[in-house]
Amino acid sequence: MCGIVGFTGKHQAAPILLDGLSRLEYRGYDSAGIAIRDGEKETEVIKAKGRLKILAEKTDHGASVPGTCGIGHTRWATHGEPSTANAHPHRSDDGNVTAVHNGIIENYQELKEKLLRKGYVFHSSTDTEVAVKLVDYYYKKYEGTPVDAINHAMVRIRGSYALALMFKDYPEEIFAARKDSPMILGTENGESYIASDVPAILKYTRNVYYIGNMEMARVKKGEITFYNLDGEEIEKQSRVIEWDAEAAEKAGYEHFMMKEIHEQPKAVEDTLNSVLQDGSLNLEEMGFTEEIINNISCIYIVACGSAWHVGMTAQYVIEDMAGIPVRVEVASEFRYRKPLLDKNGLVIIISQSGETADSLAALREAKEKGVRTLAVVNVVGSSIAREADHVFYTLAGPEISVATTKAYSTQLMASYILAIQFAFAKKHITEEQYKDYIQELETIPGKIKRILEDKERLQWFAAKQVNARDVFFIGRGIDYAVSLEGSLKMKEISYIHSEAYPAGELKHGTISLIENGTLVIGVLTQPELFEKTVSNMVECKSRGAYLMGLTGFGNYNIEDTVDFTVYIPGTDPHFTASLAVVPLQLLGYYVSVARGLDVDKPRNLAKSVTVE
Ligand code: M6R
Repeated sequence: MCGIVGFTGKHQAAPILLDGLSRLEYRGYDSAGIAIRDGEKETEVIKAKGRLKILAEKTDHGASVPGTCGIGHTRWATHGEPSTANAHPHRSDDGNVTAVHNGIIENYQELKEKLLRKGYVFHSSTDTEVAVKLVDYYYKKYEGTPVDAINHAMVRIRGSYALALMFKDYPEEIFAARKDSPMILGTENGESYIASDVPAILKYTRNVYYIGNMEMARVKKGEITFYNLDGEEIEKQSRVIEWDAEAAEKAGYEHFMMKEIHEQPKAVEDTLNSVLQDGSLNLEEMGFTEEIINNISCIYIVACGSAWHVGMTAQYVIEDMAGIPVRVEVASEFRYRKPLLDKNGLVIIISQSGETADSLAALREAKEKGVRTLAVVNVVGSSIAREADHVFYTLAGPEISVATTKAYSTQLMASYILAIQFAFAKKHITEEQYKDYIQELETIPGKIKRILEDKERLQWFAAKQVNARDVFFIGRGIDYAVSLEGSLKMKEISYIHSEAYPAGELKHGTISLIENGTLVIGVLTQPELFEKTVSNMVECKSRGAYLMGLTGFGNYNIEDTVDFTVYIPGTDPHFTASLAVVPLQLLGYYVSVARGLDVDKPRNLAKSVTVE
């Protein structure tokens, strides 16, 4: 939610900021702005409502705003409608403090009233303007350094923030502060960078620092000093980011989503290979010894959105394969329902970004209750990765499209790996089964590739669904979990209403929505459940539904029932989600393209949901 960038160095700042923002636009895209300082001159602020390209045009792609130090922002509105006035940066009226912010200041109303009493005037409806003026107030009140002013503000502010601030008295410098919202800083060749996420600065540096919660930074050209809340200097080691810059480019594809769909075979293979050694899985590097695994009494999987859907699949796989009871929960519910957790349980947080606010809060809740935690995370060094007891990094590389595809697939692979290893350690499967499962996992990347080779059929089918009003996805067991993801892919990027239902549940109410021509997509990859789901599809057909079936090669009798069939290669029933999801990703993609929508940046959404 919201992307921030900062730069101070020898080069012109504006083009670097605009370039960085273009790579963060997936975090929010209702307005954008930059603030540039040219030496001792006044800071210039330029903002525009709408997509970043409007700001780029307004500034002649940065050329019309000279200066080698600046901050920038792309916004996903929380407080206040999308407008130029509410766009960041915000500044104090005398231009003393200028800042961009990502996060939510929960007590902004109370702080605003205090500042109004002190004579401050507000020009926007944002919580950010309150933060800026609060910092300005403390700077003037205590006549100290920017770090003193920021830490006074930090102890008064409740909520989450990544702040990048410029002070009139400190030309060529940027100050930063963070609590619960992502922020990285980097240096290279005497220049310094700030960003919400790696892709924004990957082109310029791979040496990054992670600023901790309630910490601050003073950013000069090529030099960054970190401070704790008491204003004391703290040491930090830089980390090298392995992702390369090309990974965050479209590489000839029309959309990031399509590129990322095609990157799935490699991403899944890389994730498997990261723990595969001589035909066995090794989780010891992430701290899972046999003893630890054997002590796990139950598993709680907590996540949001697609990552929660992965959890739903993982539940079926882990319970069946390893015999460990699994409960799956949406993070925003888990964090507030005062969960009763077994002390010998394992809480698994699944998150691509590693910054999702609810998932992070759920992790903290579990840690507070003394339960062991494992993060299945894609972004190295993200908050969830740093705070969990164990980390399983999925190797999806940067995922830019708001609709997740390759990260979801790598999370599935991570779940299978955990299931197989836990099952083996707990002697729930034999050595032969263990080896067979691993060998089957190794075939999955190739099978995904085969599905992708036949994508044109789905494109043709998608073109016919452009005017659909409702779509229903049904399945049982793992097929229901896949339906959830297929439905989300459809609705989030095509804006067509869709719902996923356990196939047997439809007739308990929802079937009344089926009309002549309503598209019902049945997922039928589980041999034991095939006939049951076929029966549920027939029930829909009797009420006028138009049916698509998604099943394994060989189940050709499905064609007697459905109007359109998509076949996927065979695999062990535990792993079918990895294959079945791919046609559904393609379907969502093609429907969105056919409707002329912005596939990578669907309305109202942001890639990384760092607010509640
Ligand atoms: O970064 P996370 O995996 O924690 O994000 C969780 C969800 O916001 C995310 O999976 C979302 O549902 C997807 N963008 C949907 O495609």
